[in-house]
Amino acid sequence: MVEYITFGRLIHQRIPTLVSTHRTFLTILWIVGFASLFVWQRNNFVDGFWMFNPVSNKVIPKLRPIVFNLTDFGGKGDGITLNTEAFEKAVAVIAKLRLKGGGQLNVPPGNWLTAPFNLTSHMTLFLSEGAVILAVQDEAYWTLMAPLPSYGYGREHPGPRYGSLIHGQHLKDIEITGHNGTIDGQGQTWWIKHRQKLLNYTRGPLLQIMWSSDIRISNITLRDSPFWNIHPYDCKNITIRNVTILAPLHGAPNTDGIDPDSCENMVIEDCYISVGDDGIAIKSGWDQYGIAYAQPSTNILIRNLVVQSMVSAGISIGSEMSGGVSNVKVENVLVWNSRRGMRIKTAPGRGGYIRHITYQNVTFDNVRVGIVIKTDYNEHPDEGYDPKAFPILGNISFIGIHGQGVRVPVRLHGSEDIPLRNLKFQDMSVGTTYKKKHIFQCAFVQGRVIGTIFPAPCENLDLYNEQGQLVKRSSSQNVTDIDYTL
Ligand SMILES: *[C@@H]1O[C@H](CO)[C@@H](O)[C@H](O)[C@H]1NC(C)=O
Ligand SMILES: *[C@@H]1O[C@H](CO)[C@@H](O)[C@H](O)[C@H]1NC(C)=O
Ligand SMILES: *[C@@H]1O[C@H](CO)[C@@H](O)[C@H](O)[C@H]1NC(C)=O
Ligand SMILES: *[C@@H]1O[C@H](CO)[C@@H](O)[C@H](O)[C@H]1NC(C)=O
Ligand SMILES: *[C@@H]1O[C@H](CO)[C@@H](O)[C@H](O)[C@H]1NC(C)=O
Ligand SMILES: *[C@@H]1O[C@H](CO)[C@@H](O)[C@H](O)[C@H]1NC(C)=O
Ligand SMILES: *[C@@H]1O[C@H](CO)[C@@H](O)[C@H](O)[C@H]1NC(C)=O
Ligand SMILES: *[C@@H]1O[C@H](CO)[C@@H](O)[C@H](O)[C@H]1NC(C)=O
Ligand SMILES: *[C@@H]1O[C@H](CO)[C@@H](O)[C@H](O)[C@H]1NC(C)=O
Ligand SMILES: *[C@@H]1O[C@H](CO)[C@@H](O)[C@H](O)[C@H]1NC(C)=O
Repeated sequence: MVEYITFGRLIHQRIPTLVSTHRTFLTILWIVGFASLFVWQRNNFVDGFWMFNPVSNKVIPKLRPIVFNLTDFGGKGDGITLNTEAFEKAVAVIAKLRLKGGGQLNVPPGNWLTAPFNLTSHMTLFLSEGAVILAVQDEAYWTLMAPLPSYGYGREHPGPRYGSLIHGQHLKDIEITGHNGTIDGQGQTWWIKHRQKLLNYTRGPLLQIMWSSDIRISNITLRDSPFWNIHPYDCKNITIRNVTILAPLHGAPNTDGIDPDSCENMVIEDCYISVGDDGIAIKSGWDQYGIAYAQPSTNILIRNLVVQSMVSAGISIGSEMSGGVSNVKVENVLVWNSRRGMRIKTAPGRGGYIRHITYQNVTFDNVRVGIVIKTDYNEHPDEGYDPKAFPILGNISFIGIHGQGVRVPVRLHGSEDIPLRNLKFQDMSVGTTYKKKHIFQCAFVQGRVIGTIFPAPCENLDLYNEQGQLVKRSSSQNVTDIDYTL
């Protein structure tokens, strides 16, 4: 309709003499109307599929003093032309503007195929409505990089690993935002090759920023990453807000949504995540490499999310957590149609700690296992780990946990070597699908329940009333009734 009005006005202004009679005017109006409809239809039929693609009238905000358009650097959004050079040229120009407040690169509507490229400091990447950055699928274009020092290993294969599609190291002040434009990893070929064991190196994430600070990601969509989607590594001050992350729920291995890894001061909020592995997985390095690197993930706030994960969990901590994880708050999160809700996973050999973690106002809707702590996640980089390096887990609170359609609401699997200490449950009511069985499972757990909760807690926990007075002390903290058959 926008085109119709614009075109109509144009004709009306340019050729007023033609519109001499009422009848000619109506005829022209009719022709113009029909022509615009035709143009509009043609523009919206792509490869025989009907695409509803209303003309965008959104004005792109100016977020830096100097603004560029990818087409200024020879970019072509036809889905076939490789735009790596255009991105690299743009980044090189913006890199020179750091004393002038940096630069903004607008990616217009279109399909912008590219090989991996690096960002620079003081840069804003703006993805317009209808802009899609498409990752080239041929792995020969993907840069190989040294293993992450805290993993000592490519994660899936020894030796180097593929870098990320969009990458950055030692940067400051990075913004990736837009009018819901998309970064599309086209991961399908990677997932198949991974399954068929045709890859020699660990797959690359969509977006990986390392050793950087002041990173803001908002108002965009990421989809079909070859591997993890967003991977901030040893970064500080990161905000991820109002981002959609999508991958198939099955057959898209390791497509975690967001993996904060040895990161400090991070907020993740208002996001929708539906992926083939963990929605979020907070990490801090792997076994002896992570212990040596010793960089924890701390001060992380996760709120207002809707998450779906059929393979793993909505929000995870671990299993790589050897640098430690502390001060995490997860609130106002809905996990639906998923295998697990909130999951903490670790193993002997990890070392490190997971402490001061609060889950508040979490809802499960049709989830197999609601809350799970697993201390025997025995996956190691190599034989060099210390089996006596036991992680320390404690000070973990669950407040306001609700939901329905959950098979096992709580499974707290501590062990003699990795006991779970000072856990707290308060205000919990989870509708279950197995009413008669033991569905609040515990082993080596010490902690307390405040007030009445549903389902009834395991015997391992002390019971307090709402006023905080002890009602019944546990006599069997170390008793185990974990039942994986449920
Ligand atoms: C970028 O340039 C192209 C081609 O000149 C133009 O069509 C488009 O509107 C511009 N987009 C932005 C976001 O500046
Ligand atoms: C990106 O930066 C990294 C680290 O500085 C470097 O190893 C890599 O070669 C760069 N990649 C490209 C495509 O320039
Ligand atoms: C989220 O981003 C979309 C565009 O991706 C925008 O239309 C919407 O207003 C944003 N919402 C908030 C709360 O920022
Ligand atoms: C952004 O795009 C994604 C994918 O098309 C869509 O699921 C989501 O609803 C959109 N977000 C907004 C705020 O329009
Ligand atoms: C993996 O290595 C084998 C043997 O060196 C080689 O034939 C194959 O092309 C490599 N595949 C990839 C995807 O690099
Ligand atoms: C994201 O979208 C919201 C709503 O349109 C807007 O208020 C906010 O400024 C946007 N974020 C950025 C970084 O542009
Ligand atoms: C992170 O943000 C805090 C608070 O705004 C600020 O004091 C600190 O300097 C920032 N750190 C870095 C490395 O940017
Ligand atoms: C709890 O979280 C849900 C989203 O899952 C939200 O709609 C609701 O407002 C939250 N309640 C409070 C009290 O914050
Ligand atoms: C729990 O917190 C208390 C008080 O801050 C502290 O003494 C204790 O060591 C913590 N335990 C764990 C396992 O973090
Ligand atoms: C339970 O096991 C832990 C760790 O082995 C031990 O420290 C604690 O004393 C045991 N508690 C009881 C009540 O036996």
